[in-house]
Amino acid sequence: MKVLVTGGAGYIGSHTCVELLNKGMDVVVVDNLVNSSKKSLDRVEQITGKKVTFYENDVRDRDALNRIFDAHPDINCAIHFAGLKAVGESVRMPLEYYDNNLFSTVVLCETMRDHGVKNIVFSSSATVYTGGNEMPLRESSTTGMCTNPYGWTKYMSEQIMRDTAYSDKDWSIVLLRYFNPIGAHPSGLIGEDPRGIPNNLMPYISQVAVGRLDHLNVFGDDYDTHDGTGVRDYIHVVDLAKGHVAAIEYMQEHKGEHVFNLGTGNGYSVLDMVKAFQRVTGINIPYEIAPRRPGDLATVYASPDKSAEELHWRAQYNLDDMCRDTWNWQSKNPMGYAEN
Ligand code: NAD
Ligand code: WQD
Repeated sequence: MKVLVTGGAGYIGSHTCVELLNKGMDVVVVDNLVNSSKKSLDRVEQITGKKVTFYENDVRDRDALNRIFDAHPDINCAIHFAGLKAVGESVRMPLEYYDNNLFSTVVLCETMRDHGVKNIVFSSSATVYTGGNEMPLRESSTTGMCTNPYGWTKYMSEQIMRDTAYSDKDWSIVLLRYFNPIGAHPSGLIGEDPRGIPNNLMPYISQVAVGRLDHLNVFGDDYDTHDGTGVRDYIHVVDLAKGHVAAIEYMQEHKGEHVFNLGTGNGYSVLDMVKAFQRVTGINIPYEIAPRRPGDLATVYASPDKSAEELHWRAQYNLDDMCRDTWNWQSKNPMGYAEN
């Protein structure tokens, strides 16, 4: 089986390439490196001892995509990770986000259809669920009313793919709604390497630990949660990557459009995460309580039941594993993929 992986040089894409290669699948990556480094794919090859075919192209470049499908007529399916993902940036640059995230989805699906490849797994997000839903979030929970352009691009991409599957029954489309991926491959060779100051909690904590940042700002301590700080469903990126292998296997037997949460079902607060990281690594993380971040919800976590029952996938790693592997990557690569 040969899989086209868009955005495969990125954080989740590179971990998924490892799991696909370990399962004996061939991988063709297309990535324009707007938020990643080619080094991640060299490391994927180092971990697996297998070759990754790489094209440095934008997924919106129809001619380039056509050339890739022509060169690999045996591509069976695609996993579509490519996209911009920073919530705050999407508020400042909505047109860039709609352009990148929606046109990449449309051009990819059109090119796939033109080459008779009608199996796709899409990186969606828990952010498509409407605020105010009861927890845990189930795949049937209400979606929409997104609070930022990034979230809308995921919501709209889901709709584009849903309509595509409806129009042509040959399509098999799996929409995976990720919760909060953290951690890194246990080798410490690949991991999350955000550009600039991290927006997300775990990369921020690990950059404080390595001395690149001074202290963590905890965004609000007056939420209705067990310690007042925001609660999320953190999931080890290797578990998440394995969810994609399960989705590809599922797609071979199921046509139509299918939605699955990829989360653990456990909720941990910001301070739970700080304490776990400190306990596992022995490093003190200084923090200050700061105002709430606009748009944040108090509590978000998944029901992982449908994924367990239908995809036969369940997260295996626990919070200590997530902290250990985050630190293993960060301490071995204090400046990420840049030269140390
Ligand atoms: P990432 O930025 O590390 O990976 C995205 C990759 O896509 C990068 O390598 C980037 O260079 C590439 N890319 C972006 N636009 C492109 C384009 N037009 N053409 C070709 N390549 C392009 O992000 P990630 O954390 O690995 O996320 C992967 C996907 O999962 C994204 O679609 C993201 O929105 C989604 N997602 C991420 C999270 C998260 O918390 N990390 C949560 C939910 C969903
Ligand atoms: C987690 C908790 C913060 C940073 C975002 C996107 C979502 C998805 C995953 C892509 C919250 C708190 C954070 C900090 C803090 N991405 N926090 N100090 O907000 O659940 O989800 O990433 O689809 O769409 O919105 O994750 O890691 O940013 O925040 O106190 O410096 O940590 O307030 O409670 P979030 P996060």
